[in-house]
Amino acid sequence: MKRAFQPIDPPARLLMGPGPINADPRVLRAMSAQLVGQYDPWMTAAMDETQALYREVFRTGNEQTLLVDGTSRAGIEAALVSMITPGDRVLVPVFGRFGHLLVEIAERCGAEVHTIEVPWGQVFTPEAIERAIEQVRPALLAVVHGDTSTTVAQPLEGLGEVCAKHGVLFYTDVTASLVGNAFDVDALGLDAVSAGLQKCLGGPSGSSPVTFSPRAVDVIRARTSVEAGIRSAGDETSDRRIASNYLDLAMIFDYWGPQRLNHHTEATTMLYGARECARLVVEEGLDAAVARHALHGSAMLAGVRGLGLETFGDLEHKMNNVVAVVIPDGVDGDAVRGELLTDFGIEIGTSFGPLHGTVWRIGTMGYNARRDTVLTTLSALESVLRRAGARVSAGGGVDAAYDAYATADATAATAATAVAGADDPADDLDAATAGGAATGGGAA
Ligand SMILES: Cc1ncc(COP(=O)(O)O)c(C=O)c1O
Repeated sequence: MKRAFQPIDPPARLLMGPGPINADPRVLRAMSAQLVGQYDPWMTAAMDETQALYREVFRTGNEQTLLVDGTSRAGIEAALVSMITPGDRVLVPVFGRFGHLLVEIAERCGAEVHTIEVPWGQVFTPEAIERAIEQVRPALLAVVHGDTSTTVAQPLEGLGEVCAKHGVLFYTDVTASLVGNAFDVDALGLDAVSAGLQKCLGGPSGSSPVTFSPRAVDVIRARTSVEAGIRSAGDETSDRRIASNYLDLAMIFDYWGPQRLNHHTEATTMLYGARECARLVVEEGLDAAVARHALHGSAMLAGVRGLGLETFGDLEHKMNNVVAVVIPDGVDGDAVRGELLTDFGIEIGTSFGPLHGTVWRIGTMGYNARRDTVLTTLSALESVLRRAGARVSAGGGVDAAYDAYATADATAATAATAVAGADDPADDLDAATAGGAATGGGAA
């Protein structure tokens, strides 16, 4: 039978690139549940629950926390097209491919876009961004948090205060960084944030969690223009109507809110998936999920170095969940990726723009941020590189990763002992009854 007439039966793959990664089986199971009518009370309750779950994931009290149907760039476009009125000045600090994407989208929204740039692999100092804000006086600062193309994350601390001081809306794209790296919407003073499921959240792409501060909501709501066929008496029609209907957040807020405006047909299956992604994070605990990404990301970093490979980018600002590895001289990067895929079923990432052909990107994220995936990938990479004629140290990758895990285990055990010792009131009692002669446990 022709392949086109056969049921979908994808090959088994271990996706260790910069995303997408293998979806968590729980997410896939949630996505196989039957559809329910859009305004069924069960469904509207599921929407409310999803909003509450994402408030936890984003660490925000923002009422307007919801899903935009579409891949991550749908969330970006919804945020930018709804906040930018044509002619607004927008500042974009560019440090990789996705900064250029923000520029491109903001330009299409009719903004007067100003950029500052650093070479790929580096980040800006907060002072450089503040200086640019003072010079440009933008209505909006749009900055990528973790730029997957370079693997580094821009520190956002302090920028919220700077933006608030200058009356600038503060937006960031956390598609690559959310759940893999510490991030707190309210503490950072962000006005608008968009994400995706396909990286550290362990889901497929196709739904974009977003959140908006009351300040951003005011800006967006001032542009409300309800579409004619669903308009009621008293509904507004702004003369600064948002240029996209599908991504019009003023209407989407009312679709998610008590008004249940009949804007679009919910992508129900994606909502099930997005809800399960958030449930996984909340169940594990956000801090624990970030720590898991830090653990396996540092083991992967140690492993590639243990193989004798160089990394690219400012390691101090590297995201926990992805590493850029310099392709050794004389090695055909695409051939190595091809062999990893065909012989081991492992996918690692290529790269874009100035980095194309010079680095691979290896991710440890979401469902795939695990010890077995790290060790398997390092072992396979070593074999393929050796066959490609690269000089790699035999067993050096796996051994270095094992060492990184052993160090982390020892650190965790010491911390657990210290916490147990500090927390156990019985210890104080023991010390008192021993006449102050007690010694710390395990000192021998
Ligand atoms: C940081 C960042 N922003 C935006 C996107 C675009 O996401 P999507 O392809 O889901 O639209 C990506 C995709 O990898 C990304 O890494």
